[in-house]
Order: sequence, then structure tokens, then C-alpha cells
Amino acid sequence: MYKEVFIFNVIILFSMKPNLETKIAGIKLKNPTILAAGVLGNTAESLNRVASSGAGAVTTKSITLNPKKGHSNPTVLELEKGFVNAMGLPNPGADKFVQELEKVKGVPVIVSVVGSSIEEYVKVAEKLSKYADMLELNVSCPNVKTGMIFGSEPGSCSELVRKIKKVSKIPVSVKLTPNTTNLIEVAKAVEKAGADCITAINTVGPGMVIDIETGKTILSNKYGGISGEMVKPIAVRCVYEIAQNTKLPIIGTGGISTGKDAAEMLMAGASAVGIGTAVKNSGIKVFRKICSELEQFMLRKKYKSIKELVGLALKS
Ligand code: DHB
Repeated sequence: MYKEVFIFNVIILFSMKPNLETKIAGIKLKNPTILAAGVLGNTAESLNRVASSGAGAVTTKSITLNPKKGHSNPTVLELEKGFVNAMGLPNPGADKFVQELEKVKGVPVIVSVVGSSIEEYVKVAEKLSKYADMLELNVSCPNVKTGMIFGSEPGSCSELVRKIKKVSKIPVSVKLTPNTTNLIEVAKAVEKAGADCITAINTVGPGMVIDIETGKTILSNKYGGISGEMVKPIAVRCVYEIAQNTKLPIIGTGGISTGKDAAEMLMAGASAVGIGTAVKNSGIKVFRKICSELEQFMLRKKYKSIKELVGLALKS
């Protein structure tokens, strides 16, 4: 008798358990949390550690054609509710990075691609797309001279997407910047050009911090991109507007550190969420934490699947 009651309860519990699976551009994720570009994305070892900590997918650091040293220190500054950073895209270059990508196992891999010309993006995409599940075009780095040109001009951004789509056999996401008045036009243009997904947003700004003791700017680059909790409302607004104006799946990124943040981003229209600054703050355990908080929220509100949350705020 007791055994039957126990089995009955277990069945009830499992049938109520929300399903965290989601899909972006045809890629199945076991849950909607994705390691965002720029954090722990430099080596196979760190990407595999993030994968085993429960992330639904991982994104690499942005990769250029040739190795890049990046800016000199200080490159990162911690603020009360986030960071300002100007790393200057340090990375080992496409050829060397292949050796890392070959060793990443058991998780969908998104390779972040960056360049200072369309030709450079295309060459990096050609070299790396066979080792990844999706490419993410970083058209929105605020810290290098040409970093935001593609992200703020619908014309050049769609030309870039068209050329990348010609060489890529895998889906292509475009990581958009909030630092433009052209967000909707750029989003519509990349959709028309054949992009499969949009990642939104990249860091906000650029910002600047001055040390009043010395009277000097703190970051060696003077300017840096702002991330963390304080940018979340901007990210939510951008995702909402992109969802309103395109049919593309969205990876919503910016200030997500709890299950409730993730739910909010999904309701704005994202199908998955990127986690960056929260990994810096709390370590890789943050993926399981966010998933379990999201599950509890869904259980309380009787949502059974992620699909029920995606774009909910657009329907009101
Ligand atoms: C860097 C690149 C980015 O895309 C960003 O948003 C912030 C910093 C960088 O490497 O400097």
C-alpha cells in the first residue's frame, strides 16, 4: 500500500515538473541558459567545465583571424551592480582556436566571430564553422575602432550576414548592440539577409570611469562596455522590440542572474538566455541555480514548458 502511494506521488511529481528544453534555430538545448561570449570562452577546458555545470549551450570568446593581444591593464573595472570592460578582444586567432574547439564535448557550441572587415569575418567563419553548432557575429564590440560599424548600419550588417550565410553550413546569429537608434532597422535587415537568430544585447555604452584621486580615466582604453544587473531593463526592452519586429529566435543577454530574470527575458521574446556577468560574480554554479529557480517559478505559476513563456509580454 505505502509503496503504491509512493510510486503514485513520484509519478505526480514528474508529470508536474516543468520542461526546460528549448530550441534556437533548430538547435535543441536541454535548458535555456547559455554561456555568453567573453567569459570563460577561451579554452576547451573552461568551456567543458561550463558544460558540465549544466549550461544548455556555450559561446566562445570572440575570435579574429589573427591572434590578438588585447588592451593593456586595467581592462576590467567592477562597479556596484556590474562591470565596465575593455579587453580589446584578446584571443588566440582562428587557426589556433580550432585546437580548442576540437576538444569541446557534449554541449552545443556557439562560436563568436569578429573582424574588422567583411573579408575577415568570412575567413574566420570558414575556418571555424565546421567545429561549431552556430556562429554568432559580434557586430557590436564597443572597444575597438571598427567594433560597432556593422551593428549600427543596417546596410553593412545585412551585407555581412549575406556573405557569411554563403560560406556557413550552420545557423548564424547576429549579436546586436543597444548603442544605436537603429536597433529595429538592423534587426529587420539581418532577418531579411538570412540570419537565423539574433543575440541581444552586447554591452552598453561605451562608458567611462575616472579616478578622482589621480584625475585620470581608469581603463587603459578609457572607454568600456557596461554589463550586469543595471543593463537588464535595456536588454529586456531591446529583446521585446526585436521580437515585435522580426520572427527570428532571440538569445536574450544582459544582466541575467536569477530564474526570475530568465523568466522576464523569455517573456520579452527570447527563446534562450545568455549569462555573462553573473558567471564572473558567482562562478559556474550559476547555471544550475538559474535553472532550478526558473523551474520553481514555472511550477508555482503552472507553466509546463519554456514555449509558454516566450513572448508572453508581447501578447498583453
Ligand atoms: C569586448 C568585446 C565586446 O563585444 C564587449 O561587449 C565588451 C568587451 C572586448 O573584448 O573588449
